[in-house]
Amino acid sequence: MNIPVITIDGPSASGKGTVAQLVAAKLGFHYLDSGALYRIVALAAQQRNIAWSDALAVTACAKTLDIQFSNDRVFLNDIDVSDGIRTEAIGKGASQVAVHASLRAALLDLQRSFLKAPGLVGDGRDMGTVIFADAPLKIFLTASTETRAQRRYQQLLGKNQPANFEEILQDLTERDARDKGRASAPLAMAEDAILLETDNLTISAAVDAILQHFHHKIYE
Ligand code: DC
Repeated sequence: MNIPVITIDGPSASGKGTVAQLVAAKLGFHYLDSGALYRIVALAAQQRNIAWSDALAVTACAKTLDIQFSNDRVFLNDIDVSDGIRTEAIGKGASQVAVHASLRAALLDLQRSFLKAPGLVGDGRDMGTVIFADAPLKIFLTASTETRAQRRYQQLLGKNQPANFEEILQDLTERDARDKGRASAPLAMAEDAILLETDNLTISAAVDAILQHFHHKIYE
């Protein structure tokens, strides 16, 4: 039996995490937050004094990790790292370790193991282009850099964390360039993906649009 997959790819702060989780919840599907895996690897490397640029050591480190998702929390070797992986610094590290083809290969089977009945929503950068390349529905969710920086800025303020708009804008621009420019599985819209620009779209409108596309795919 073919288990349905919806892939949702896009740049940082495009809202895809929130949208993907809501789509998964509405359909009762499993959810893969692939960015969390790269974040965990960045965190583990940092804890072991491994440079994010060291492909061999980062990949070897990743292979030793026990990563578990449970009730919206993520555990690294039985320690809850859900908050620890969400910092701006670890986000930057994730984007740096993610350039290594050997690491991406090491995380392939783990990502595909999330595909279980009744279905999966995969959120990331290469879900539709590499990991689930034959997914029946692929979405590319994006927004302008300014909109995304503004969202990230408001998010940090909401959490009472220090936030500087210009710095956030620059970080996002750098991260986009690295994610799009790397040789291995760069951030790109799959040829058969549907583009959703969220600058003027609410979260619930984006979720509804994806659910509609999914129903069309199933009943077409
Ligand atoms: O979605 P996120 O911000 O949690 O992702 C963090 C970094 O991980 C992102 O900058 C690039 C990398 N990443 C990736 O290369 N491939 C994925 N499928 C998901 C994330």
